[in-house]
Amino acid sequence: MPTLSPPPQSLMKPMDFPQKLLMGPGPSNCPPRVLNASALPLLGHLHPEFTQIMDEVKAGIQYAFQTKNQWTVCVSGTGHGAMEAACTNLLEPSETVLVCENGLWGQRFADMCTRNGAVVQKIIKPMGQVFTLQDVEAGLQQHKPVLVFVTHGESSGSTLQPLEGLGQLCHKYNSLLLVDSVAACGGVPLFVDDWEIDAIYTGAQKVLSAPPGASPVSFSERAKNKVLNRKTPIRSYYFDMTHLANYWGCDGSARRYHHTGPISSVYAIREGLARLAEEGLEKSWETHRKCAEMLWEGAEKLGLELLVQEKANRLPCVTGIKVPEGVNWKDVSDYAMKTYKVEISGGLGAQAGKIWRVGIMGYNATPENVQKVLRALDEGLKSVRG
Ligand code: GLV
Repeated sequence: MPTLSPPPQSLMKPMDFPQKLLMGPGPSNCPPRVLNASALPLLGHLHPEFTQIMDEVKAGIQYAFQTKNQWTVCVSGTGHGAMEAACTNLLEPSETVLVCENGLWGQRFADMCTRNGAVVQKIIKPMGQVFTLQDVEAGLQQHKPVLVFVTHGESSGSTLQPLEGLGQLCHKYNSLLLVDSVAACGGVPLFVDDWEIDAIYTGAQKVLSAPPGASPVSFSERAKNKVLNRKTPIRSYYFDMTHLANYWGCDGSARRYHHTGPISSVYAIREGLARLAEEGLEKSWETHRKCAEMLWEGAEKLGLELLVQEKANRLPCVTGIKVPEGVNWKDVSDYAMKTYKVEISGGLGAQAGKIWRVGIMGYNATPENVQKVLRALDEGLKSVRG
């Protein structure tokens, strides 16, 4: 018999588990009702009681997106899974996609498209800036893409992309509009049907205040027809929307076994969506805006500058704050963590080391939490400046 490796000693002691206030770009903290839901006993993934919960989740997603789209599901995975699902279903090899890139999410989506054999064309803006209808129209005229990708809430550049008019514009050029709303949905106005958005996804771990693991995706009739009329098979079995639509009860036929759904994640997102439904979208948008304005004013009072100048283009859910000359962002962020157990994140990509990012999302969107972040920033800056 081969020699048995010993069991890991690290598993022989209790998990080290500090309580932290997650004020970065996500995950955000979950309310007790969400955590309690995820601790409920498992049901079978095709049991009627569970499919009833899935139907409730679907209705909650339709509400959060303001859509009646039949193909509305959760993919089993984090926001990246939802992004991958959108990419792999909506594009065929050699088709052209126009990616509006003003931060990490455009870059990442472009990478996925290339891996899926699509031809990627980009319009690029620096982080902190958004696209105008004219920018997108020029790209549509030049590249004639089948799909346009934009990021609603660009958490790396802390921008809020205006979406009104974009869907109609894309349709004028026979293109579909895909929107990444992972860091925005629930925190800012969003009207998927009225704005003629063809495909959209979000994550559980941001405004919905549920653990990452099940991610809402919705396809319009146009997007659905594009998938149903593909000439080549969808490259991913796991993210195949025709299978997912069946499992989520969207195609009128009996649900078949595709994969085992993440039961506990579905319970959790159900409660996150219920919380949003009880609060109401308008109230949620207002709460996020008020808390963000408190943060923006408070940061400016501390002598700090925000990355996004134009107020209308600032994402209330994630704010980029410039790190002053001579200050190491990490020292301040470490101070906040050590002293208050508050997470303040750093920048990504071109903004790494140059900004802090503060998330105000869902359960965490309270004036008390904003004050705590401002206090931690103020004291942290004083401590590193000596
Ligand atoms: C994640 O969403 C991030 O912006 O870091």
